[in-house]
Amino acid sequence: MPQTILRTAGLCKNYRGRPAVDHLDMQVEKGAIYGFIGRNGAGKSTTFKMLAGLARPSAGQIELFGQPLTEAAARRRLGVLIEDTGAYPGLSVQENCRLKAAALGLEDEKTAVQRVLEEVGLQDSARKACKQLSMGQRRRLGLALALLGSPDLLLLDEPTNGLDPEGIREVRSLLLRLQAERGVTIVISSHLLGELEKIATCYGILRAGHMVQQITAAELDARCRDYIALQTSEPHRAAAALEETLKLRDYEVLPGGEVHIFGTADPAAVTAALAGAGVPVQGIGAHRQELEEYFLALMGVEEDA
Ligand SMILES: Nc1ncnc2c1ncn2[C@@H]1O[C@H](COP(=O)(O)OP(=O)(O)OP(=O)(O)O)[C@@H](O)[C@H]1O
Ligand SMILES: [Mg+2]
Repeated sequence: MPQTILRTAGLCKNYRGRPAVDHLDMQVEKGAIYGFIGRNGAGKSTTFKMLAGLARPSAGQIELFGQPLTEAAARRRLGVLIEDTGAYPGLSVQENCRLKAAALGLEDEKTAVQRVLEEVGLQDSARKACKQLSMGQRRRLGLALALLGSPDLLLLDEPTNGLDPEGIREVRSLLLRLQAERGVTIVISSHLLGELEKIATCYGILRAGHMVQQITAAELDARCRDYIALQTSEPHRAAAALEETLKLRDYEVLPGGEVHIFGTADPAAVTAALAGAGVPVQGIGAHRQELEEYFLALMGVEEDA
């Protein structure tokens, strides 16, 4: 029985009477890497802020670790990276981490700080003042601060934003390692869908503050199937011919007349069968529905854009 680590019900946040998050129902199981996706302004950061206790919900409930969100419990078991790192610009990387470690009451501050700086690849910049960090280095510091105290749940709002390709790869393997070795649950937002696809075990798709769909990576994979796209002026005769000669049942005639044939059918056999039945074929080709296509359709177009 999977254990739910995070749950929201009817979660709302209004800014000046306008909903930024609108009756959001979200559920994250223990050990998941939950890809939280949506267009700019969909409400991802606002949701993260409420989950982290940094913004007060206008309505609704948040449950963390099976209990209502409370400050003390949240602070202890949560690691958060949202937009700005919240680091003191005049202090060094190391000093900022030490302060956070002290605030968490960590026993061996020095070792803990050293470990997280190594994990995010900042060990050589430990003495640099935060205001002198590059964008990617600031992001890494934010991640280091989130990792202090070995949290059970990580909330990461665009953690790879501004990172170089190597940094993106390092973050990817760090997150996979945290999940595999320490059973950490991770909620991560990103606009890099291809990158997310490499690590996410499930997804929550947000549109105008509302959850459009929660789907596991396995379910998604089954939906994004390989298919043969067939263009013909007589789609229904084509379908009948395919059923009769090739015994194909798993196909779809789209409103525009294109026929999508799923399964293991061979395009050459399809062409031959249609030629034999005298059905004209304007085009035929093998396709795979991309993750991006699937997500973009669900994320939709902003009504007021
Ligand atoms: N402090 C604020 N005051 C007023 N409106 C806000 C505030 N913060 C966010 N909003 C509005 O709430 C909506 C959701 O914003 P949010 O930052 O949560 O989106 P997002 O999904 O994180 O977008 P992005 O992908 O650009 O980071 C937007 O319309 C935004 O303008
Ligand atoms: Mg955001």
